[in-house]
Amino acid sequence: MIDHSTIERIFDAAQITDVVSEFVSLKRRGVNMLGLCPFHNEKTPSFTVSPAKGIFKCFGCGKGGNAVNFIMEHEHLSYPEALRWLAKKYHIEVEEKEVTPEEIAKQNERESMLVVTQYAARLFTETLFHGHEGMALGLSYFRERGFGDAILKKFEVGYCNEKRDDFTQKAIAAGYKSEYLVMSGLTIDREGYLFDRFAGRIMFPIHSLSGQVLGFGGRIIKKDPKAAKYVNTPETEIYHKSRIVYGIFQARQAISREDRCYLVEGYTDVLSMHESGVENVVASSGTALTQEQIRLIKRFTPNITMLYDGDPAGVKASLRGTDMVLEEGMNVRIVMLPEGEDPDSYSKKLSDEEFKTFLKENETDFIRFKTRLLLDEAQNDPVRRANLVREVVRSIAVIPDQIARTIYVKESSRLLGMPEEVVLDEVLKLRKQQTFRDRNAWPVQDAVVAPQATVQKQKAREETSFYSERELLRLLIRYGSEVLTRETDKETGIETVTTVADYIISQITEDELTFEDPLFTTIYSEITFNVTQGLVAGERHFVQHPDPAISSTVVDMLTEQYSLSRIWSSRGAFVETEEMKLRDIVPDSVLKFKGDKIKMMQKEIRRAMAEAAGDDEKISELQARYKAMTSLQKKISAGLGGRIVL
Ligand code: UTP
Ligand code: MN
Repeated sequence: MIDHSTIERIFDAAQITDVVSEFVSLKRRGVNMLGLCPFHNEKTPSFTVSPAKGIFKCFGCGKGGNAVNFIMEHEHLSYPEALRWLAKKYHIEVEEKEVTPEEIAKQNERESMLVVTQYAARLFTETLFHGHEGMALGLSYFRERGFGDAILKKFEVGYCNEKRDDFTQKAIAAGYKSEYLVMSGLTIDREGYLFDRFAGRIMFPIHSLSGQVLGFGGRIIKKDPKAAKYVNTPETEIYHKSRIVYGIFQARQAISREDRCYLVEGYTDVLSMHESGVENVVASSGTALTQEQIRLIKRFTPNITMLYDGDPAGVKASLRGTDMVLEEGMNVRIVMLPEGEDPDSYSKKLSDEEFKTFLKENETDFIRFKTRLLLDEAQNDPVRRANLVREVVRSIAVIPDQIARTIYVKESSRLLGMPEEVVLDEVLKLRKQQTFRDRNAWPVQDAVVAPQATVQKQKAREETSFYSERELLRLLIRYGSEVLTRETDKETGIETVTTVADYIISQITEDELTFEDPLFTTIYSEITFNVTQGLVAGERHFVQHPDPAISSTVVDMLTEQYSLSRIWSSRGAFVETEEMKLRDIVPDSVLKFKGDKIKMMQKEIRRAMAEAAGDDEKISELQARYKAMTSLQKKISAGLGGRIVL
């Protein structure tokens, strides 16, 4: 059994395009990649890869799945074998062991912690927007800095009251175990006295890729020279600073769409840039990026642009951390902001258009930037110039792609005023000295003869509710956490937010409806289980599901719609996205589902009537039920809905 966190790391490392590219030559087509399907014979490409979703789908033969499914299918490996195979490619050590009761407990522990952080995030936003102190201190602080409510809500920003144990007490009163409060870093336990880590701070939740709250950054708002400006969640079972970048959840689609990721330092920089309409941005939280963080970004784009405050000494210091990014094969560019400005201040100073133009016009390729910067500094000092050459050469040497290296050698030798051969020679020497992890090398294949992967094929179903069941699940998975309606109580001013998941689940629960398809039943119960825990089982959860039958079913669901939008957008027409029409689509789909259920019940009644031939009493009872169903069906067709009374 491969240990859970190892599987997560494999999924994080194994970008779909990277994995597929080993076998299929892919070309970019909009936000997707296109190539010839390796699973059937074709002359025009219909094999599509979505880097943002982490899935492949062939519109010719219908095969689809995540990176692991691809390897299973292509290399004829079982699920654990495919995982091991990918682990080897990405140099991830596979921890294998029997699942012990302790491990199950650990898993439950992680889940409980996520429930706590989710609760905390909600409480903090509630406090910021509706609490007395939150509005007076927190909200007014944001207003003064020029942040609008929409952006604060988008990032679920909140406020933690000043009273030392306000949060902890509230959480305990709400039924959360103090054990998990402490474990998730929200509460500090000092010899039995429990108090809040973040008292008196504005709160920035740090989300996972799929939107779960893993931890927080809390900024002080009062002037206090003794206190740290930011306090962050310490390392916990769910929050690993080195594995996540701030803002990736809100930015991931834009990163993939724009095929570029901006990197800034602070939480507020991310918020401000979003407000200026630049949504493909994440924050490193003030430190150099780790390999895991880089890979996380690389799943969506190979292009990264770093924004630096206009302070040369600071820039030079941060340049050192950049070789790691080059080493991962990313294309790095730099934008220098004017002296004394950071992305937050500068994006506010300029209009949205001006700021976007500024970013476009001021980005410089990293190697060129570094060469110029150091060149300025070294002037004509020969010793410093020699050091400079070494510095630049070092950055070039780590780049995995040979063609890119050659281009950089040409370019920098020109800038440095040195013969190309000399620079190239230095690069080659360095490469010989150091062993660079060659990411493009394919691991030597083990001599495992694996059984054919068994990806369960969807049986043809006669049940009439098959498609409406499938559609509801698709909406739940894709848009579950999207807001469907917002209603403000006129008297109390309290806002009730109904998400797509809230709506669909309550409709199904109220009428005690069930799914026919066993696989759908499993998926649905997994969704509802997560919702009751305050969690969202979204696309990523299911696309990476350990049960290949589930992951491939979900991939099929998710890709159907997207083949449609592909056709539309290629005509260049304005596409009204589904997301904009959820208010219509969701209730309609629920009605369709109910309508199908009624049809099935009627079919059942007809069968019962045939059986009850002769029993007049029974027949008339059945007829009455049948009629009631028919009138309900009419209401549904008229779009009126209403409860199905069984
Ligand atoms: P900054 O000091 O630039 O903060 O630190 P900021 O986010 O721009 O905040 P404002 O605009 O001054 O309000 C950049 C990042 O470094 C981390 C935080 O992640 C912060 O966003 N940091 C900074 C800490 O973790 N601790 C600190 O004490 C300071
Ligand atoms: Mn700042």
